[in-house]
Amino acid sequence: MDEQYTPGHSANATAFMAARSFNSHGEFIRAYLELGMKVLDCGCGPGAISVGLAEAVGESGHVTGIDFAESQIGIAKTRAISNLSFQIASVYELPFEDEAFDLVFSHALFEHLADPVRGVREIRRVLRTGGIAGLCSPDWGGFILSPTDDAVETAITRYRMLQEKNGGQTRAGRQLGSWIAGGGLVPEKMQARYECYPNSRVIAEYLALQLEQTGNEESASVLRNWAASACSLFAQAWVSAIARKA
Ligand SMILES: C[S@@+](CC[C@H](N)C(=O)[O-])C[C@H]1O[C@@H](n2cnc3c(N)ncnc32)[C@H](O)[C@@H]1O
Repeated sequence: MDEQYTPGHSANATAFMAARSFNSHGEFIRAYLELGMKVLDCGCGPGAISVGLAEAVGESGHVTGIDFAESQIGIAKTRAISNLSFQIASVYELPFEDEAFDLVFSHALFEHLADPVRGVREIRRVLRTGGIAGLCSPDWGGFILSPTDDAVETAITRYRMLQEKNGGQTRAGRQLGSWIAGGGLVPEKMQARYECYPNSRVIAEYLALQLEQTGNEESASVLRNWAASACSLFAQAWVSAIARKA
């Protein structure tokens, strides 16, 4: 299995994830969280969303965030509170007993996995019977960029090729349901929403840095110039899936 995490863990990529919160990106799972639940957050990054999960399950519950990157867990640990802990682990080999969690959450991870069905299978193993999994991934097939031209389209295509060469999927959102079913969970609800970046420079810089680091300086510069226009729009399509362990 050849897999490389495309965004990397630069200061820019980490700040990009750290700007998220449970309110901004975790809404799809809110209705399934209850006080006292044991929750696992897979691919938690710097832990910005995990904090809100911990608040939702209260002092009688517990959230464990895992990420395979030592740097991210180091940052996440600075947010740890009595009912929130973090540890280094891969979603493919979770260091927990069978049926250890009531709910498993994973935001913006599955689009980077070369074997997403294996990831779902492992999540299913640590989920109690009747427990809930909530996954969310973008789907580049639904992104809206405006204004656009051949150079902008080429830059976006190059970024997508990079993620796919690294083993990821840029149309992950629409595949979540089949990955979930393939991994033995029962899909219950699929939803989609748009995230419109208030300042296109933020997302353009995030993508441009990765293009630059892989020799696509021209496309990086096209995206930066595009974002400088006052009327630029970057609307990112997110698909979320709720599933249950039967
Ligand atoms: C795009 S970030 C998302 C972080 C956070 N969940 C969020 O939505 O802001 C994906 C995270 O998954 C982690 N990751 C990638 N592959 C992983 C794997 N196989 N197992 C565990 N974590 C992984 C990366 O290190 C990164 O921190």
